[in-house]
Amino acid sequence: MGFSPPLPVLAHTVLGPDGAAPLLFVHGFPVDSRMWSAAAERLAGASRCILPDLRGFGRTPPEPEQSIAAHADDLAALLREIGERRPVTVVGLSMGGIIAFEFFRRYRPMVAAIILVCTRANAETPEGVAKRGAIAEGVLAAGVRGLADTMIGTVLAPGAPRAVRESLYGMMLDQPALGVAAGSRALGGRRESFSTLDAIDVPTLCIAGEEDSITPVELMKAMHEKIRGSRLAVIPASGHVPPMEKTQEFVDVVAGFVAQRPAAAEQPEVR
Ligand code: MLT
Repeated sequence: MGFSPPLPVLAHTVLGPDGAAPLLFVHGFPVDSRMWSAAAERLAGASRCILPDLRGFGRTPPEPEQSIAAHADDLAALLREIGERRPVTVVGLSMGGIIAFEFFRRYRPMVAAIILVCTRANAETPEGVAKRGAIAEGVLAAGVRGLADTMIGTVLAPGAPRAVRESLYGMMLDQPALGVAAGSRALGGRRESFSTLDAIDVPTLCIAGEEDSITPVELMKAMHEKIRGSRLAVIPASGHVPPMEKTQEFVDVVAGFVAQRPAAAEQPEVR
């Protein structure tokens, strides 16, 4: 009889003291956990920052097939693996926010709060599914550079510092084609999350970039209005990646939200 060993846990970095309130940072597409590094270093005094590389990105090897649900399962497995037994604040940017919705649906007891950054709740349109499939094929045939060249032109605010642009572009180029292709198809196959917005019953913060052309402020505002009791923060002069473009402003908003949460030690363990 065959035996399939479990897939290895996600590669990850943990910053901050063990007892501090856990923040689980879920990165966007097509990059890795380094997009959070500067912000997490500043938040790590008062929080335990958990920074996974999703499967197929950064240091975590790809699988030929991927789904948003599998990403969420990987995150739950990681929390168990590192012994994080308290509910976490899930911080998801764009693709990471889409995964945060799925994580909430599948692992509600593991979620203390949610921070949605520049993300969207819709299922992919038929044109979008075709586009994601074409991106996957293009990347497998010719590598990730073409996608990186296209994305870097739209993802940041026009005034973003050159160092941020170079760092993000370099991170895109570092990603394995197989992982990016599988990730693109997973985004194409995602389910809608509008129905989840009504069901969110944990404290939620929505963060928008004032100059984000991928998930504009209006989209984030509409999402915030559907989530009971949620807050909306708009980061001035930021595009789609506030933690890199406007790190201190992003950190201040997250730290303010986290400071209003009960101390981690008061959170009941979930498993
Ligand atoms: C992201 O930042 O995760 C991407 O913009 C998601 C997408 O391609 O829609």
